[in-house]
Amino acid sequence: MRFTLLGLASTALAARPFMNEPDTGIDDILGATTPNGSLPPLEKMVGLPDFDWAARKKLNGSAYTYYRNGAAGEWSYRNNLEVFQRFRLRPRVMVDIVNIEDSLPTTILGQKYSAPFFIAPCARGGLAHPDAELNFVKGAAEENILYMASLFSSKSFDDIYAARVPGNSSSGNDTQQALFQQVYLTDDINETRELFQKIEKAGAKAIIMTVDSAADGNRHRAARYGVGSADSSYSLLTWDLYHQFTKMTSLPIVPKGIQTVEDARLAVQNGVKAIYLSNHGGRQLDTTPSSLEVALEIYEEAPEIFQQVEVFADGGVRYGADVLKLLALGVKAVGVGRPFMYSNAFGVEGVKRVSKLLKHEIAIDAANLGVADLKKIGPEYVNWKSVNAWFS
Ligand SMILES: Cc1cc2nc3c(=O)[nH]c(=O)nc-3n(C[C@H](O)[C@H](O)[C@H](O)COP(=O)(O)O)c2cc1C
Repeated sequence: MRFTLLGLASTALAARPFMNEPDTGIDDILGATTPNGSLPPLEKMVGLPDFDWAARKKLNGSAYTYYRNGAAGEWSYRNNLEVFQRFRLRPRVMVDIVNIEDSLPTTILGQKYSAPFFIAPCARGGLAHPDAELNFVKGAAEENILYMASLFSSKSFDDIYAARVPGNSSSGNDTQQALFQQVYLTDDINETRELFQKIEKAGAKAIIMTVDSAADGNRHRAARYGVGSADSSYSLLTWDLYHQFTKMTSLPIVPKGIQTVEDARLAVQNGVKAIYLSNHGGRQLDTTPSSLEVALEIYEEAPEIFQQVEVFADGGVRYGADVLKLLALGVKAVGVGRPFMYSNAFGVEGVKRVSKLLKHEIAIDAANLGVADLKKIGPEYVNWKSVNAWFS
């Protein structure tokens, strides 16, 4: 019996190997005309996974690897990508969906944006383009989506905030584009106070406090190329410290990297306005769950959390349908990391193309799912009984 099961498992594994990007013919169509070191025409990029392919062609091995790598055996990295297809959609038909695009705009912590997704905070934008994060600021402004800037950006903090587009305000009388600022904090209270003052003065609208990186990520692929984590020390972060931090700023502090329902509950009890579900793109601790699995755990055990605070989530989101599955559980906005990092090889136009493609996919996928209004999507649109990936 044991032999039979093992045999079955290995056959299934052999039959369905992991593919970084599912084969949709990009190599056949663009491979011969895109030598290493060059980019294909931007208009030939038809979906988010294409930008991984393009960046792999264009960037040198270590730059591409810094963006692409995951922790250890990269099981979480792969699971983030694969988990979405384990849950089947439940499309409804004969529904009037013609106004679906009107329901894409949303608010994120009170700021108005054109879509329920954002550019997740990622370090070292300069590995793909000399203008680095400035392309994210500009692309986000032109697309009216949210950009969360990383503390470990290639461009300086001042340059990033100076690049904001005036008149692209999402809120009230403020005339500046609304950005959120990601931080890695330590128990050095004075340093944190100074950092918060700088962030407030610059006009950021929220502080995204990464909590999933208590230690260096165990990154084998990156180590091979000598491109380790930007944040490599042990860091002390506790809810006691969080309370000290909240006294230093009027901005909301959002914990990024919540991975269990227990921590989601604790965050709510400690008064946060939003939580951000993430396993850091599978880059920190291998075999941590994808944010879809965490959202499902919260939905099953403490669904009220989706009403009490705004919930953001990221990891492996590459298609409109991925976004829909997270929104169906009550997630308010979805982060996209690597596709935007890769798209920056094309500069600001690449960043804008990722945004446009994802907006379009969200709308057409919602329509085909029979969702008339994105704000009304609910868990009934997905069969939450997982299909076993290895035997499907
Ligand atoms: C190249 C790269 C750099 C990153 N840098 C940071 C960072 O500085 N701070 C942070 O909180 N998360 C960082 N992340 C994690 C992202 O914010 C996000 O959680 C992750 O990329 C989402 O997964 P995805 O890339 O599959 O979309 C980084 C991710 C990548 C790919």
